[in-house]
Amino acid sequence: MEPKERVKELRELLERYNYEYYHLNASSVSDAEFDRLMNELIMLENEHPELKSPLSPTQRVGGTVAEEFKKITHKRLMLSLANAFSESDLRDFDKKVCETLGVKKVTYMAEMKIDGLAMSLDYVDGELNYAATRGDGNVGEDVTQNVITIKSIPTHIKVDKPFEVRGEVYMPKASLNALNEERQKQNQPLFANARNAAAGSIRQLDSRVAASRKLNAFWYYFVNANEFGFTRHSEALNYIETLGFRTNKERRLCDGIEEVLAYVEEYTLKRPTLDYDIDGIVIKVDDITKYDILGYTAKTPKWAIAYKFPPEEVQTTLEDIIFTVGRTGKITPNAKLSPVRVAGSMVQRATLHNEDFVVSKGMMIGDTVVIRKAGDVIPEVVKSLKEKRTGNEKPFVMIDKCPVCGEPLTKVDAMHFCLNPHCDAKHIEGLIHYSSRDAMDIEGLGEKIVELLFNEKFINDIPSIYNLYNFRQDIIFMDGFKDKSVDNLIDAIEKSKQNSLEKLIFGLGIKEVGAKTAKILAKKYLTMDELMKASYEDLLAIPDIGPISATSISEYFKNENNIKLIEELKNLGLNMKYLGIISSDVTSPFYGKTVVLTGTLSSMGRKEATELLENLGAKVAGSVSKNTDYVIFGEEAGSKLDKARALGVKTLDEESFLAIAKVDDNK
Ligand code: IVH
Repeated sequence: MEPKERVKELRELLERYNYEYYHLNASSVSDAEFDRLMNELIMLENEHPELKSPLSPTQRVGGTVAEEFKKITHKRLMLSLANAFSESDLRDFDKKVCETLGVKKVTYMAEMKIDGLAMSLDYVDGELNYAATRGDGNVGEDVTQNVITIKSIPTHIKVDKPFEVRGEVYMPKASLNALNEERQKQNQPLFANARNAAAGSIRQLDSRVAASRKLNAFWYYFVNANEFGFTRHSEALNYIETLGFRTNKERRLCDGIEEVLAYVEEYTLKRPTLDYDIDGIVIKVDDITKYDILGYTAKTPKWAIAYKFPPEEVQTTLEDIIFTVGRTGKITPNAKLSPVRVAGSMVQRATLHNEDFVVSKGMMIGDTVVIRKAGDVIPEVVKSLKEKRTGNEKPFVMIDKCPVCGEPLTKVDAMHFCLNPHCDAKHIEGLIHYSSRDAMDIEGLGEKIVELLFNEKFINDIPSIYNLYNFRQDIIFMDGFKDKSVDNLIDAIEKSKQNSLEKLIFGLGIKEVGAKTAKILAKKYLTMDELMKASYEDLLAIPDIGPISATSISEYFKNENNIKLIEELKNLGLNMKYLGIISSDVTSPFYGKTVVLTGTLSSMGRKEATELLENLGAKVAGSVSKNTDYVIFGEEAGSKLDKARALGVKTLDEESFLAIAKVDDNK
């Protein structure tokens, strides 16, 4: 047999076995036989590179690292759904649908609203043409190589007409838990929920990463249904299922809104038993011939709606209340919880704000508490379940001494403070704040490194950061450091000396002075010396600065230690001037952003681009990290662009950069 024919035969066989395994849960071959055929195909493709194909089963384990994702303009807009948050929202939706159609009752399809990443699969001549993300609804990204690593997705179907289905790529709960456990061990940031995890996996440039992530998908919308003669969404879904697309079995046809409401109630309870995350229920008119009559808004169809669950509330045990000391000395009680999964991720800490919060909720240590995530992100304790007490609970006692230095605490309104200026905790927090992004933005001097360097006594206050280079040799031998990372850190520290004044003002951590106030002060006084001379009255005269901030600022600059600190920083060579140019800068999209340039730009040199960005208020950095806001790339961009994509940092090609910077070519 010709290699070409054998390759075709092997591909068909492997696709069939894949289908059997992933759809029918029954395979007609042994794993060993499957592997043997796969190996034969790999060998043939290697020997005959001209026979390679991106849709080959050999590519479904992941491979080649791409430079960037190609843009795909969707054949039809990829719409989103309007939301309903209550029974009455759903009844209103039904009322409008019935009125528009002039009927009393409508048949709806109720479906799981899968918490994942929307995806479109487009087939031409029965072959997967692309898999694309929604993007802005009009233009998405071609993520085919990543999507085909999801083995339940057919790369070939028995259809010869243009064909498009849409659905959701998601990460099953168990996979997300396992992945987060692994990431925790490796000290990597955890995925906050299934949606982020799915999106993060699909937006990888190296498809081996996606392949390792155990993703799956459900398909819930057959775009060409009417062209195939279907008049009902339910029938369209049954049809795509027969073609090998995984559809969600929990869906149910509901005769009228009452049945929809019963379904919603049923699945509100069943939600925790599903092995994937859902964030609501989608309700669609089943009769697709009515879609045009019902119409669309700019972004959503009027024939469907998404009912969103209220934030998930779960119960767990309040094991302890731990106190932490912030930069300003503020003491915060924190709940130490028995780890529990809520809204897609494991939670074991939640802030309890202050003493009054704990007291008003009547919390006792050992209580069963109800927790949820505010805005689906930040965990919060809703209440204590007093009826679940066993008698072994311990009362909450507010501490009266700093948990770090032992200084007696001072109460101001509802808050407790450690006012000891030498408290270690405050020093560490203060240093973390100083090097943070909106302050001096020292790349590589994050929370963990500050703690490490502080505990090893390499740094103890702000000026000591600038003397860190003296310890270069010692630091190299510390765990987690390499020559290069120490040198990069020292470079970043040096570079921060050039920062504009507002970054330094904010970095000092003056009470009541946030990044915005710091900017106002820098712009108003232009130099540190002028700012230091400002009286309470001068400060109060500035719009946006109230009496509390004015007091705090003037007090700060009267304090001997602070005057000494600024003197020291001056002597170390720190810039003490405002470097922004004109006031309209603040409106520049690059204002205050950290930008990395990579590759060759055709319209200007690297130096010019840096200057342009700096004039627009950006900080141009040399390497990409999660703190980078934009990576601007030209021709032959390499690993920096890859890294940006991997970290989910926004990337801009030259054209978009110039458009945003509004550079006029004729100038
Ligand atoms: S239908 C035009 N059905 O939720 C209709 N969407 O908030 C397109 N989603 O954009 C959407 N499960 O990404 C539909 N069973 C389901 C869904 C679903 C999850 C997502 C989808 C959509 C978003 C709307």
